[in-house]
Amino acid sequence: MSHSEALKVNELSPELQVLTIRNRFLEIFEHDPLLIRSPGRINLIGEHTDYNEGFVMPAAIDRDLVFAIGWADESDATLYSVNHDEFVRFDVADPKKITKPFWANYLLGVARQFVDRGYPVKPFHCVVGGNVPTGAGLSSSAALECGFAFALNHLHSFNIPTLELIHIAQWAEHHFVGVKCGIMDQFASMMGKEEMAIVLDCRSLSYAYLPIDLKDYSIVLCDTMVKHSLADSAYNKRRQECETGISILKKSFPNIQSLRDVSLDMLEKHRDAFTEKVLNRCTYVVQENNRVLAAAEDLRIGDLESFGQKMYATHEGLSSQYEVSCAELDFLVNEAKKLHGVIGSRMMGGGFGGCTINIVLKNEIDSFISTLRDAYYKNFHHEMNSYVVAIKGGTSVISLSTDQIKGINISPTKQ
Ligand code: GLA
Repeated sequence: MSHSEALKVNELSPELQVLTIRNRFLEIFEHDPLLIRSPGRINLIGEHTDYNEGFVMPAAIDRDLVFAIGWADESDATLYSVNHDEFVRFDVADPKKITKPFWANYLLGVARQFVDRGYPVKPFHCVVGGNVPTGAGLSSSAALECGFAFALNHLHSFNIPTLELIHIAQWAEHHFVGVKCGIMDQFASMMGKEEMAIVLDCRSLSYAYLPIDLKDYSIVLCDTMVKHSLADSAYNKRRQECETGISILKKSFPNIQSLRDVSLDMLEKHRDAFTEKVLNRCTYVVQENNRVLAAAEDLRIGDLESFGQKMYATHEGLSSQYEVSCAELDFLVNEAKKLHGVIGSRMMGGGFGGCTINIVLKNEIDSFISTLRDAYYKNFHHEMNSYVVAIKGGTSVISLSTDQIKGINISPTKQ
C-alpha cells in the first residue's frame, strides 16, 4: 500500500482496526468473516538465547494484526493485505514461495506446512492488516504467521494443538522467509497472557506465566527507525558461531547439546581452544541464561531496580560480546541511562536496529520521549519513534456482538 494508507491503518484504535478489517473483507468478498487477532511481542530479557535452548521472558503486547477469513467458492485462495493494498491468489493444494510481494511468504509458508502435515486446506478469502510496526523488532512477522495459522486451524476445525501451530509458524519463517529464528516470537504471540510475561525454557518448551507489576513504571519502546541490511545474515551467522562453540566444547564434554549445557567455568577452562570472537559469543549466551533466571526472581519479589540493572548488563553483552547492536541502539540506551526515572534500558530482539525497551517512571514518560527524540535527531538527523505498550493476551478469536459491529466496545475473547 502507499505510505499514507499504511499510516491510516496504523493510527486506528483497536476497535476501529477490527471494524476496518472486517469492513474491507465485506466490501471485497461480500460475506461474513471469522475474525482473529494476533499480537506483536516484547522481550523483557533473554536475548539470542532461544536458539541456544536457553531461557527467554517475552510478552504479547497491545499492538496486533487482525485477520478476517471465510470460505471461497472458487478454486484458489485469495489473500489481501490492507497495509500493502495488494492481493495474492494461490493454489491451496500447492502453496509456493514467491518473489513478490514478499509479505505473502509469511502466510504461504504457513499454508505450505498445513498441506505438508496432511491438513487439507480448502479455498478461502483472507484480509489482514494492523498496527504492529514492521522492522521495529516487535515480531510483526510472528504475528502474521501465528494469526494465519490460528485462523486456518479455526476455519477448518482441524483442532491442531497450539504448540504445533507455533512450530508451523516458525517453519514458515525458516523456510519461506529465510530467517533461522528461535521459537520465542511465535511462542509469545500465540501464548501471551494479559499482564503476564512468559518465562519460557526453549529446550523443553515448558513455561510459566510471571505476573508483571511495574507499579509506577511503564514499558516504553524507542524505535530507532533503522534496520541495517546485515540484520538477517548476521543473525544466521550468530547461530553458526554458537554451534562452532558447541563443537569445540563437545571434544571435552561429549554430552553437551547446546550452550544451555555450558557453564562459565567450562568456557574458562577451555578458552585457548576458542577464537576470541566465538568465546565472546558463547560467554554472552551463558551469562544471559543466568540473567534471565535471576531476573525472573527479581520480578517475583518486586525488585524492579535489580531487574533494570540486568537489562543494562544484557545490553552491554549484546553490544560488546555478541555484537548485534548498532550506533543508534547504543546511543538510545546510553542517553536513557542518564535520565531521571529510567531504571532499565536495552536493545530488544535480533539487533542491528529496531527498538530499545525501557522501564520508565509513568510521570516521566513525556519528558523521557521528548528528550530522547531531540537527542536522537541531533545525532542521527532522523526521527525516533516511541510506543508505550501494555501486556496483553496472545492470538485469539474476536467475537463481535451486534452493538459492537456498530462500533461500540470490541473486546477479544480467547477460544
Ligand atoms: C529474533 C528471533 C528470535 C530471537 C531474537 C533474539 O526476534 O526471531 O527467535 O532469537 O531475535 O533474542
